[in-house]
Amino acid sequence: MFFSTLFAIFAGVLAWFGYELRPVETKLKDPVWMRADYEARKQALIKTIAARTADSVLAIGGKKTTNLFRFRKQPKKATRLDVSSFNNVIHVDQEKMIVEVEGMTTYERLVDATLAAGVMPTVVPELKSITIGGAISGIGVESSSYKYGFVHETVLEMEILLCNGTVAVCSREQNSDLFFGMANSYGTLGYVLKVKVKVVPVKKYVQVRHIRFNNMKDYFAAVEEHCKTNRPDFVDGAIFNPTEMYLSLATFCDELPHDVKKPSDYSWMGIYYRSLQNKSVDYLTNKMYIWRWDYDWFWNSKYFHMQHPVLRFLFGRWVLRSTIFMKVFRAFHRSGLYDSKRRELVIQDVEIPIQNCVSFMEFFNKEVGLPNDFYPVWICPVRTYDQSVVYPLYKIHPTDLYVNFGFWDGVAVRDNQPGLINKMIENSVRDLKGKKSLYSSGHYEETEFWQEYNRPAYDALRTKYHATSLLDLYQKCVAAN
Ligand SMILES: *[C@@H]1O[C@H](CO)[C@@H](O)[C@H](O)[C@H]1NC(C)=O
Ligand SMILES: *[C@@H]1O[C@H](CO)[C@@H](O)[C@H](O)[C@H]1NC(C)=O
Repeated sequence: MFFSTLFAIFAGVLAWFGYELRPVETKLKDPVWMRADYEARKQALIKTIAARTADSVLAIGGKKTTNLFRFRKQPKKATRLDVSSFNNVIHVDQEKMIVEVEGMTTYERLVDATLAAGVMPTVVPELKSITIGGAISGIGVESSSYKYGFVHETVLEMEILLCNGTVAVCSREQNSDLFFGMANSYGTLGYVLKVKVKVVPVKKYVQVRHIRFNNMKDYFAAVEEHCKTNRPDFVDGAIFNPTEMYLSLATFCDELPHDVKKPSDYSWMGIYYRSLQNKSVDYLTNKMYIWRWDYDWFWNSKYFHMQHPVLRFLFGRWVLRSTIFMKVFRAFHRSGLYDSKRRELVIQDVEIPIQNCVSFMEFFNKEVGLPNDFYPVWICPVRTYDQSVVYPLYKIHPTDLYVNFGFWDGVAVRDNQPGLINKMIENSVRDLKGKKSLYSSGHYEETEFWQEYNRPAYDALRTKYHATSLLDLYQKCVAAN
């Protein structure tokens, strides 16, 4: 423990000084100037693509943080395009309720800029370093998703860099096949350079009610009921074990009640997920609500001993941040200290139709949860926003409510077969008519994978938009890891 704590702290402090200490700009420049600046950088990218040799692989990137739980090797012969400068908020339009933003902008920046204007994107994924482009092509979800859908459903228009050096403007009217095809493409069709997304007004505080349940049947019935009838601003929850689970219903409010002196703070000594068990009603500032899961990386700060009050007191101000946990986690895995023959990482988010959620949790509790003490599990309901459209690479049933289950931990390898538990989860998700996100490890055979993720639609897009010089979705998300 001593070693890993020191390691965490050093890595955290180094990481902080390396990347995190940039002032956050909330005051935006003139949008006309911003758009001209964007155009200039875009033309420079187009030139680089035009100059590349025909046989080199395009590797687009440049971001210093990641939220992927795959450990891919970079291809050798590659033309590298650094798109990290595409990280600006261009304009917050409070009349049309739209924000225009570059694809590599992190939600941390985007939230700062939009909150300053009294609005927020309709769906903000829970970790600060997730970029808007990443959330569109990699299935972002949060507690407002039962109203507004996945992040990709909140997009009105995108500019996408194609591998032939053209930037395609995509919307429901223009290049609509690519517009709908970007969701779950993980950068294998093109790269999101700029996007317009919807925003909604915010109020200063959020009231959160945590309701306890002691069985899965009542719990998921309540999830469905609250999403249908009372419809608060936000709904999510956490399962602490098969007989203790919480549903968190959150609503904006302008003021605190008289008996509440100040809103709760989970950025230092307080631990948000613990509050679910201890407070039935809580008040947070809007920003604290948005980042409630970031400070302790949901609950995974425990692996860094950062839930210990002394360490928290001494270092919490600097270290409690998902990007720092992620850096330490990845460094640990690269270092070879993780014994992957005996421990299997199970880091997944899956969507299950509401009518099958009890069955999914019965499977999970029996095979994964109880044998490994693998809790809490995050739940977040999500439903299609506009039933008249289809996102072909991540098709869910247009009228069903789904629940996203997030679970992130390591388990003892079963039957000497590393990967077996992940495989069992993939099978269960398929049998229960669910879908699995691809940000983490996949264990599918290629044919099985393409049955789940719509090969005909994917191949058609890949050919039409000249993406064949990029790794394909299976190679990128499953095979190359
Ligand atoms: C919160 O509640 C849990 C379970 O109900 C209990 O074990 C824990 O001690 C409580 N923590 C605090 C800080 O009150
Ligand atoms: C690149 O591909 C798109 C989509 O097929 C096409 O509209 C565009 O003209 C192409 N650009 C070049 C430079 O060939």
